[in-house]
Amino acid sequence: ETVEWEAASYDMGGHDTFMHKEISEQPDAVDRVLRGRIDDRFSTVHLGGLNLDPREARTIRRIKILGCGTSYHAGLIGAGLIESLARIPADAEPASEFRYRNPVVDPDTLYIAVSQSGETYDVLAAVQELKRKGARVLGVVNVVGSAIAREADGGVYVHAGPEVCVVSTKCFTNTVTAFALLALHLGRIRDLSVTDGKRIIEGLRKLPAQIEEILKGEDEIKRLAEVYAGAQSMMFIGRVRGYPVALEASLKLKEISYIHAEAYPASELKHGPLALIEPALPTVAIVPDDDLLEKNRAALEEIKARSGRILAVAHQPQEKADHTIVVPKNEDELDPILMGIPLQLFAYHTALAMGRDIDKPRNLAKSVTVE
Ligand code: G6P
Repeated sequence: ETVEWEAASYDMGGHDTFMHKEISEQPDAVDRVLRGRIDDRFSTVHLGGLNLDPREARTIRRIKILGCGTSYHAGLIGAGLIESLARIPADAEPASEFRYRNPVVDPDTLYIAVSQSGETYDVLAAVQELKRKGARVLGVVNVVGSAIAREADGGVYVHAGPEVCVVSTKCFTNTVTAFALLALHLGRIRDLSVTDGKRIIEGLRKLPAQIEEILKGEDEIKRLAEVYAGAQSMMFIGRVRGYPVALEASLKLKEISYIHAEAYPASELKHGPLALIEPALPTVAIVPDDDLLEKNRAALEEIKARSGRILAVAHQPQEKADHTIVVPKNEDELDPILMGIPLQLFAYHTALAMGRDIDKPRNLAKSVTVE
C-alpha cells in the first residue's frame, strides 16, 4: 500500500513536469531552510525544534543516521558533515537494514531519522524500536507534523515545500543543507572555531545564488544527456564526500531513465569494477577541487587508459574527461550540496530523451508506508 499524492491539486507553474519544477525551485528552497536560523553573533545556527541542550549535545559519542532511498543518501552526506564539522563519529545506514539486524542501542549515541514524507514505514518502525529501547531520536523531516516528526524527540524541519514528483530532488538538497546546519550547530558547541563557523556560514549564504548559476547551465546539460542517453549502463564514481553524491546521482538516473547505473567509491575501482570499463560503459565522475583532486584525476586516467568515456562534474575542466560540467566552488564541506544538482538535470534530460514518464516512474511510489 502506498500514499498517492494528489498531483493534480498542485500547480506545475509553467513546467512540463513536477520534477523540473522542483529542480528549479532549489534556490528558494535552500533559502527557506537557512532563513531565520543563522546566528552571526556566535557564528552558529539556531535550530528551534532540536530539543537538545548544549550539555547533552556535548555528551554525544556517536551519531547514527537512518533513512531510505534518497533520504539515506542525504544522511550519508550528513554523516560526513557531522564528522568534519563536529568531529563526532557518524554514519548512515538504510533504516530497513538497521531494523532487522537487532542493532546495539547505545545510550551515548544520538539517532537521526531522515525522511521527506515522514511516513516511510521502515524509518518509522526503526524510530519506534529505538524509542522503546530508550534511545534519543531526532528527525530531519520535510512534512510538518508527519508520523516520524511526531515520534521523534525533536529535530530539524527541512522546509523544501511539497514535493510531488516520485523521485526526490529539492528535498534531497534541503536535507543535506539541514545537516550542514546541524553539523555547524553541534560543531560550535564542541570544537569548531569561530573562524570556521564564519567560513561555513558564508558558504551557506552563497548556496542559493550558486544553485541559480548551475541551473543556468541546463541547455548544456541537456545536450550532454542526449549524448549519453544511448548507454545501456553507467558507472558513477566519487571519493569520500563525492561518493554519496555519486550514489544519489546513479539512483536518480536508474529511477527515471531505467538505465542500469551503479556507484562506486573511486578508490575501489581497481578492486573489481575496472573490469567493466570499456567504451560502451560511460563513467560519471565527481571531481571536486579539494585535497583528493589528484587522487580523483588518477582514477580518470585509469578509466581513459581502458577507453572509457568520462563525464566529470568538477570545479574546473578535466583534461582526461570527454566532457566536464563545471560547478561553482563553495567550501569543501558544502561542495556535495552543489555537485548533485547538475546530475539531477542530467538524469532528467536523459529520461526525457528516452520518452520516460518522469513524474511517475514505473514500479515506484512517492512514499512507501508498508513493509
Ligand atoms: C520511496 C521513494 C524514494 C524516497 C524513499 C524514502 O522509495 O520512491 O524517492 O527516497 O521512499 O522516502 P522518504 O519520504 O522517507 O524520504
